[in-house]
Order: sequence, then C-alpha cells, then structure tokens
Amino acid sequence: MATNVSLQLFGALLLFLALQPSESLLNHGMFHLVCNHSSPDRSPKWNNLQLSYGLQFDSPPPAGLNFRQVIDAIDAAFKTWQPVLPRLVFRKVRGVGGGVNVLVYVNAGPLVPSDPFMKLVFVNVTVNWSTGLSPAGNQLDMQSAVVHEVGHVLGLGHSQSPDAVMYHVLDYGRIKRNLSQDDITGLQNLYG
Ligand SMILES: *[C@@H]1O[C@H](CO)[C@@H](O)[C@H](O)[C@H]1NC(C)=O
Ligand SMILES: *[C@@H]1O[C@H](CO)[C@@H](O)[C@H](O)[C@H]1NC(C)=O
Ligand SMILES: *[C@@H]1O[C@H](CO)[C@@H](O)[C@H](O)[C@H]1NC(C)=O
Ligand SMILES: *[C@@H]1O[C@H](CO)[C@@H](O)[C@H](O)[C@H]1NC(C)=O
Ligand SMILES: [Zn+2]
Repeated sequence: MATNVSLQLFGALLLFLALQPSESLLNHGMFHLVCNHSSPDRSPKWNNLQLSYGLQFDSPPPAGLNFRQVIDAIDAAFKTWQPVLPRLVFRKVRGVGGGVNVLVYVNAGPLVPSDPFMKLVFVNVTVNWSTGLSPAGNQLDMQSAVVHEVGHVLGLGHSQSPDAVMYHVLDYGRIKRNLSQDDITGLQNLYG
C-alpha cells in the first residue's frame, strides 16, 4: 500500500490514538485533540495549543549519532511550527510518565503508550539517520522527518505539494526542515 511505503520512508511514524472526550482528559492535566466536524477534512485539532512533549530513549542513538545530536534535531523540529500560530507553545518536559501530550520514542520498535491520551511519535533507530547539513543518498534527515510528524500531531494531513513538509514522501538525502507556504496556510486554516 503506497501510504505505508511512504510512511516507512519517513522512518518516523505517528501513531494516532483514539480521540477522547474532554472530561476524562482534564483529569490528566493534558490537552486533547478534538475532531472539528465542520472543517472540510474533519481534521482533529488540539483544544489548547500549549502542549508538552517528552523524549524517551529505549535504545542507544542511531548508528553514527550521539544523544545530543538526536535531541537537538527533535527539539528543532518542534520549534519549527511555533512561529506559525502565536498561541502554539511546545514545552519540553523531563520525565515521560503520564502528563505529556506528545511522547517522542526512540527505539527499534514502537511502544503502546500507557496513557491513552498521549500521541506517540516513533523514531526508528534502525533507519540510517543524518542530523548534519549533507545527508548521504542513503540517509534520511531526522529533523525533516520529525517536523513532518509534528505536523500530523497538530492535526495536519498530507499535502499535495512536493515542496511541503507535509508531502507524503521524504526523499533520502534531502533536507526539508523549513515550512512551505502550504504548510503554514494549512495550519492557519485549521486553527484560524
Ligand atoms: C471548525 O471548522 C470550521 C471550518 O473550517 C471553522 O469555521 C470553525 O471555526 C471550526 N471550529 C472550531 C471550534 O475550531
Ligand atoms: C524500522 O526500520 C527498518 C528499516 O530500517 C524497517 O525494516 C522496520 O520495519 C522499521 N520498524 C518499524 C516498526 O517501522
Ligand atoms: C549510513 O550511511 C552512511 C553514508 O552513506 C554510511 O557511511 C554508514 O555506514 C551508514 N550506516 C549504517 C549503519 O548503515
Ligand atoms: C531554513 O530556515 C533557516 C532559519 O530561518 C534558514 O537559516 C535556512 O536558510 C532555511 N533553509 C532553507 C533551505 O531555506
Ligand atoms: Zn505523514
């Protein structure tokens, strides 16, 4: 199936979790995604854009990279989306027990979050990742992949524009860390 192949090419996956009623969520001190049934694509969106994220490593960093490089790439990816919406804030938290909105999980296989309200971004360490400015033709740029997954976390689907971060394919050897106008407009329309 084409979609699966494309997602696999990203090396990082977003595991979509069931949308939950807000009442239960408030007990967790977390915000949640709601489905806006009036929006044309019925995209889910957060009811509050002050979101927390945490990192969990259950594996050494991918071959050739150190922890710092991986952490910096992931942090930069979250920061990329913030300027688009003044009320969007990603706050990084230590510790990944309950209470984070987004958990970035670095390992060879994904995790089933113990908290059903958490969104999980899985970074597959067996992929040949790059964090520098010149990925080789067999490497994926980690920051570019995570920027894409964070777009999904925010509720965006795939773009038709090949230059968009939210395009369904990230080419090996390519850096696509900056948002295109299409990505920006998409997020503004979703939360406008
Ligand atoms: C839902 O989407 C519609 C159409 O895009 C928009 O006009 C409306 O403001 C959205 N509602 C909420 C609560 O975000
Ligand atoms: C992780 O990536 C490898 C290729 O590097 C792939 O074979 C494997 O299926 C991926 N694992 C998951 C859970 O996507
Ligand atoms: C990843 O790709 C680089 C550049 O082509 C190569 O030097 C390195 O051996 C590869 N690493 C792995 C684990 O395959
Ligand atoms: C991406 O944005 C950064 C920061 O604004 C900028 O320095 C860089 O030149 C941009 N890269 C591309 C390829 O546009
Ligand atoms: Zn995607």
